[in-house]
Formats: sequence, structure tokens, C-alpha cells
Amino acid sequence: MNFNLVQACFDPKLTPLLRREIKRELGTLTPLSKGELEEIAAISERIKKGQLPKHFVRKKISPEIGYGIFLHPDAEPLVKEEVIAPYAGEISLVPQYTHDPSSYAFTLIEDILLDKGEQKKWDSGSHFHPKRHYTFKLDAWKKGNFTRFINHSEKPNLAAYTVRIPKNPYGIAPAPIAVVYFVKKKILPGDQLLVCYEQSEKSFWNSEQGKAFAMTPQTFRINTTN
Ligand SMILES: C[S@@+](CC[C@H](N)C(=O)[O-])C[C@H]1O[C@@H](n2cnc3c(N)ncnc32)[C@H](O)[C@@H]1O
Repeated sequence: MNFNLVQACFDPKLTPLLRREIKRELGTLTPLSKGELEEIAAISERIKKGQLPKHFVRKKISPEIGYGIFLHPDAEPLVKEEVIAPYAGEISLVPQYTHDPSSYAFTLIEDILLDKGEQKKWDSGSHFHPKRHYTFKLDAWKKGNFTRFINHSEKPNLAAYTVRIPKNPYGIAPAPIAVVYFVKKKILPGDQLLVCYEQSEKSFWNSEQGKAFAMTPQTFRINTTN
């Protein structure tokens, strides 16, 4: 598996704009706690090698759904509030309402307005329009980690929280925004890890298929890793 990014990456020149828009749209984000940072540090060595944490298994479910991530049949159960990992990918600023074919992109912040200088800097291919809206998205299509293989469900056992990464001694870069997957409901060995991608929209990040397959963590439960 060639996805070895521990946390989201972005052009550092975007930081002031990102901070301004977080404040406008999301307010103050909760920082990850010491314990949560330690959990991320513990799994990051395997992620950096492009590996899954030992207690997870990646398995192909079907040609339509693709791969999914499961708790290893021999692993201990995972309990509520445990950290799974940051949803890593590339953060970029894009014009809103343009078709996005990516199956791996969270919308972080919407309805962003840019002044003339900002539009020239970040959208140099378009003429200035004061009412054009922009979006910060987080896309794991080209870069990411195993979390990009976690499928969507309206009955998920994981939750995606938008948080801040504070300064820390664990080698995790501080960041004004991050999406981190946490356990929402106890996960038993063999269960599939599932998350609701976009709470308000019923989106499952697939622009071609009409409707998400309604699966629960037990629908494709695994007993062996073969
Ligand atoms: C973030 S990816 C999840 C990993 C993906 N299964 C893979 O193998 O790369 C999102 C894509 O997985 C598929 N998917 C995820 N949840 C689904 C669901 N409930 N029903 C059908 N397809 C789903 C869709 O193709 C969607 O665009």
C-alpha cells in the first residue's frame, strides 16, 4: 500500500487564509489532547512505512465498493473515543461548485470570499469576480494513508472530528485544522470500520453511482484475513 502520509499537507503560504476562514466558519477548534497525540504518534511509524496499524486489515469487498478496512479477527475490541488516525491528504483551495470527481475529498470550509489580490494569487486562471465562492478541501486521492480506504455508512462506528493539532513533543506537525477519525461505537474483531463522510448531505463521495450501499459494520464482517 503506497499511502504513507501521517497528517494532511498544504502549501504553508495558505496558513493565514486557512486561519482566517477557520475563525469565520468554524470558530475555535478543539486541540487534540496529550493522550490523543500519543496515540497518533504510536501508529505513525507504521503509516510512514505505508503499512496499516497491526490490528487492522484491508480487504476488497466488491468491484463496486472496492476495499474496506476491518478490525483484525484476533485483535482486542476498540472502545469509544479511541483514535483511529488522522484522515491525511492534500488541503487545497478550489472554486466552489466546480465538479470534483475525487472519491476521497472532505469539504473542510465552504463559502469563502477572496479579495482581488487573493484571487490573483490562488486562482490566477480566472478573471476577478467578487462573489465567486471558494472551498478548502482535503483530498486523499493521490496522497493519504489507510483511512482513505474506510467506507461510508449512515450507521457508522467511527466519527470524523475537525480539530486543531497543538505544539507537541511527539513529532506531529502543529496544524490549524485536521480531520481525525475516532471510535464512535465499540468495534468488535472482524467488524468493518465505517464513517459517515458528510453528516448533512448523505454523500458517499461517488459521483457516478446513485445511492450508497446501506452497510453496517457487521454486513461484511470477516472471520479470517484471507
Ligand atoms: C474514501 S473511498 C473508500 C475506499 C474505497 N472503497 C476504495 O477501495 O478506495 C470512497 C469510495 O468508496 C466507495 N464507497 C464507500 N462507501 C460506500 C457505500 N456505502 N456504498 C457504495 N460504495 C461506497 C465509493 O466508490 C466511494 O466513492
